[in-house]
Amino acid sequence: MHRLHRRNLCKKLQNGFLFSIGSEELSRNGSDVNFVFRQDSNFLYLTGVEEPGYAFILDLSRNYFHLFIPKVDAKHIVWLGHVPDLSESKKVFGADKVSYITDLEIELKKISKTKDLYFLKTNHEKGLKLCKKYFRIKPEEKKLHCALAELRIKKSKEEITLMKEAAEMTSLGHIEAMKKTRPGLYEYQIQSYLEQKFLEKGAQHCAYPSIVGAGKNAAILHYHHNSSQLQKGDLLLIDAGAEVKGYASDVTRTFPISGKFTQKQKDMYDLVLKMQEECIQGVKPGVLFYDLHLLSARILLKGLKDLGLLKGSVENMLRKGVDKLFYPHGLGHFLGLDVHDVVPPPVIARSRATKQSRLRASRKLEENNVITIEPGVYFIPALLKDPNNRKKFKDFVHWSKVDPYLQFGGIRIEDDVVITPKKPLILTHKCPKKVNDLENIKN
Ligand code: GLY
Ligand code: MN
Ligand code: MN
Repeated sequence: MHRLHRRNLCKKLQNGFLFSIGSEELSRNGSDVNFVFRQDSNFLYLTGVEEPGYAFILDLSRNYFHLFIPKVDAKHIVWLGHVPDLSESKKVFGADKVSYITDLEIELKKISKTKDLYFLKTNHEKGLKLCKKYFRIKPEEKKLHCALAELRIKKSKEEITLMKEAAEMTSLGHIEAMKKTRPGLYEYQIQSYLEQKFLEKGAQHCAYPSIVGAGKNAAILHYHHNSSQLQKGDLLLIDAGAEVKGYASDVTRTFPISGKFTQKQKDMYDLVLKMQEECIQGVKPGVLFYDLHLLSARILLKGLKDLGLLKGSVENMLRKGVDKLFYPHGLGHFLGLDVHDVVPPPVIARSRATKQSRLRASRKLEENNVITIEPGVYFIPALLKDPNNRKKFKDFVHWSKVDPYLQFGGIRIEDDVVITPKKPLILTHKCPKKVNDLENIKN
């Protein structure tokens, strides 16, 4: 898979050399304990190397992959175990040549007079220093990043298989968390059931910090304290995903802590589910992601109007941005080695797009893109109690009808979707989301 990624990059860039040093470990406490290591996504995409201490030079004109590996001593092996040697690394990583990292500068010197030099930046500061020392010209950054993003946005069969694995583990984790949920437990306990399942099924990491928000915490978009107690009658929002070989899953489910939705919760839940299902139906090659976002906003505005919270025409409300009071994020994002994955230009088309809708990226969808579809509705006191908003939106919002929802929290439903020429493939389809399925999960 990684060999193919390198070949495709060579085809795009054609000439010159690409040099990179993989991410370095970061101290988590200023002492000798490090954060759990995660390789830079572009480095991982091109090499498959998941450990620190590696570098490479890729001759782009002939797809010649020279890998540099860490030279470890007995002390390192005593504490950290085996590291593949030169010949092992050649096989494992499909390299044309393998040297120790101590030889890197000699090789950089040899290529330093080449015209087309590309440098792939990671968090490793030494990479940048060496780049400045040996590259007399400023390396092309934009061209490299566009080329990588153009490749990464279209997933291969192998990548989709890995993402499917991550999605299945994620679904099992969510199901486990739903089954274990009951009033009186704490959000962090639910997090432990969820993540235990990810690990049990073989995930290497969580793709991002798990969000487990009960009651009003569900209205905090990236809540991660996970420290409150679950109360009877509230909803619980879980946004969490497993990572497999670097590939992310990203799933949100919202369900009643006591097992049954109240009518008020059910009405809101069905509205978000309608937003999500209609948008998923609209996912196909050629569709502008921003137009799907607008579809979700229109359904929301009409639904809130039908429930008596809003007044006026949907189109007027959309123009004035009433949707953003209750839905202050975009419909979704591209997914891959990064949970908010890379997006090559052109990112958009229409003026209102990214800035006003807070959609992370809008482009025409293409076959084998993977995106999340994650509409929501939130009652965020900071927005809804703001006197400026009360005044600005007085012609559209029945504020007296909104007040009883100020402690409601929020609802989000998120699935991972592959764009195909036919029906979209929902990688996370095993994770329940219908009202009946959620209410019967414990049976
Ligand atoms: N979990 C982050 C997101 O849904 O975008
Ligand atoms: Mn997401
Ligand atoms: Mn998410």
